[in-house]
Amino acid sequence: MNLEIKGPFSYSGNKYRIFKKYFKDIFLEYSKIHEPFLGSGVCLYNSNSGGVGIDMDKNVIALHKSLSDDGLLDKVVTTYNKYFENGRDKESYLNLRSDFNKSWVITGTNSDNVHQLHLLVQLSFNSLIRFSRNGFNVPFGMKEVDFDRIKKHQSVIKDSDKEFKFINGSYEELDLSDIDKDNDLIYFDPPYIASKFQYGGWEKPDEIKLLSYLDYLNRNGYKFVLSNTFSHRNVVNQDLIDWSDGYNVKFIDMTYNSWSAMVKSVENVKNTTEVIITNFIF
Ligand SMILES: C[S@@+](CC[C@H](N)C(=O)[O-])C[C@H]1O[C@@H](n2cnc3c(N)ncnc32)[C@H](O)[C@@H]1O
Repeated sequence: MNLEIKGPFSYSGNKYRIFKKYFKDIFLEYSKIHEPFLGSGVCLYNSNSGGVGIDMDKNVIALHKSLSDDGLLDKVVTTYNKYFENGRDKESYLNLRSDFNKSWVITGTNSDNVHQLHLLVQLSFNSLIRFSRNGFNVPFGMKEVDFDRIKKHQSVIKDSDKEFKFINGSYEELDLSDIDKDNDLIYFDPPYIASKFQYGGWEKPDEIKLLSYLDYLNRNGYKFVLSNTFSHRNVVNQDLIDWSDGYNVKFIDMTYNSWSAMVKSVENVKNTTEVIITNFIF
C-alpha cells in the first residue's frame, strides 16, 4: 500500500521527511519494517505489512496501543469539547494537563487517560512529549488539534491487513525468530549521542552495545538500516565512523529538528552530519 502518513502524533526527531526523501521507495520493496526505536513510528505505519515497534518510553507505547480502541476518537473529541469550549487557551490546557497528571502519578498512562495525552501532545509546545516525576510538563503550544491524524492511523491499524505489535522495552527485546530475513527490514533510529536534551540516558556505552548488536544481525543474515550522525553539533562520533567501514553509508542533507532552533544552547545544528548506514546496497 502506498501510504505517506506522519505517525499518529508529532515527535521531536521523527523521520517523516527522511522517510519521504530517502526511505520510501526502498522500504516499499519490503514486507514488514520493524522499528525497535519506535518514537512516532513513521516507517512502521508506512510499511507494506506492518511490523514490531519497541520503545523504552511507556507513554509512547501507550499512545500507539490506544489506536486499537474503537472509542478513542470519541473520547478525544469529547474531552476537547469539554476543556476547550471557549477556544484553545493556555488556562484550559493547564487544566487538562493537571487532570491528566492526577491520574498519571497513580497509574501512569493507561487506557483510561491516554486520550487526554493525545490531546496534550498535539497542543503542547513543539508537540514535545516530556515527563517529570509529577507528570507531563510541556507548556502550551497554541496548535490546532488534528483529529484526522488519529483517525487515519486507527484505520491503518484496524482496517488494513497490516500486522502491528507494540512492546514497551529495549530494542534487544525484538524477537528475531519472528523476522523474515528475506522480506523484512529492521530500522534503527536510536537517540543521538550528543542530543543531551532528548530521550535522556543514551550514552557512549549504549551506542557501542547497539553497534555490536547490529554486527550480530549482519552475521545472522538480517537486513538493517541505521540512522545516526557522524558529527552532531560539532561532536565527532569516531566510533560510529570506524564501525561503519564495513557497511554502506549514505550522507544525507537534512536539518530537521525545529525544537533545537528554539533552544539557545543547542543552536549549533549546522555542524551535524547525518548518515544512513545499511548492511545491503541502498
Ligand atoms: C530518535 S527517536 C525515534 C524517532 C522515530 N524514528 C520517529 O520517526 O518518530 C528514538 C526513540 O528511541 C527510544 N529509546 C531510547 N532508548 C531505547 C532503547 N534502549 N530501546 C528502545 N527504544 C529506546 C526513545 O524513547 C525514542 O522514542
